[in-house]
Amino acid sequence: MSTKKLKLKRIPEGRSGHFSIIHRYHPHLYFNGKYIRYTGAMLIDNETMWMSDGPEERLTMSSAVRWCPNNADVLIGGLGLGIVPRWLEQKANSITIVEFSRDVINLVYDYIKTAKMKIIHDDINNYLDKTEEKFDFVYLDTWPDLDASRLDEITHLKKLSKNVLKNENSRVICWGENVVRKAATKV
Ligand SMILES: C[S@@+](CC[C@H](N)C(=O)[O-])C[C@H]1O[C@@H](n2cnc3c(N)ncnc32)[C@H](O)[C@@H]1O
Repeated sequence: MSTKKLKLKRIPEGRSGHFSIIHRYHPHLYFNGKYIRYTGAMLIDNETMWMSDGPEERLTMSSAVRWCPNNADVLIGGLGLGIVPRWLEQKANSITIVEFSRDVINLVYDYIKTAKMKIIHDDINNYLDKTEEKFDFVYLDTWPDLDASRLDEITHLKKLSKNVLKNENSRVICWGENVVRKAATKV
């Protein structure tokens, strides 16, 4: 299913602890060969701009929809603005989301939750290490940028993810892995 067809409601502005969701109007956002006007939500904490729901960022997450098998039991590392869980809602059998910030959960989860979803307040490293649950599809997105220095984190999480895969057809996708790998070869 195309992510264009999956229109999502913008998560409202709000603040919880160090985290905020703010809305910003971009009058000249260049995307897909043209300038567009776009009002988007951003998830930020004191020091980090974690993500936005802008078109470029959505494009980088769209591989989740492409690779998720039908009727999959899905594990998602990092709630963020809840874009990937909402995209996968129709395709998945179940969606378990692991998020380490109680503030992000407070700001976002009530707006996206459905009967198929479960939220776990934990560090994804700890969860992957300890859980006995198994999944068909794992989507990991717990870093805010695609810097070359993220490669170690991605490699480590992929290794840990092997513990939670149901079988040899189960798949792990990490946000921006190809970009990070390319950046790392240039360092
Ligand atoms: C870029 S956002 C995820 C975006 C998400 N894919 C979406 O669909 O909107 C990253 C999220 O991961 C969370 N996070 C960062 N490190 C984490 C960790 N070690 N374990 C669990 N969640 C983590 C952040 O608090 C943030 O909510």
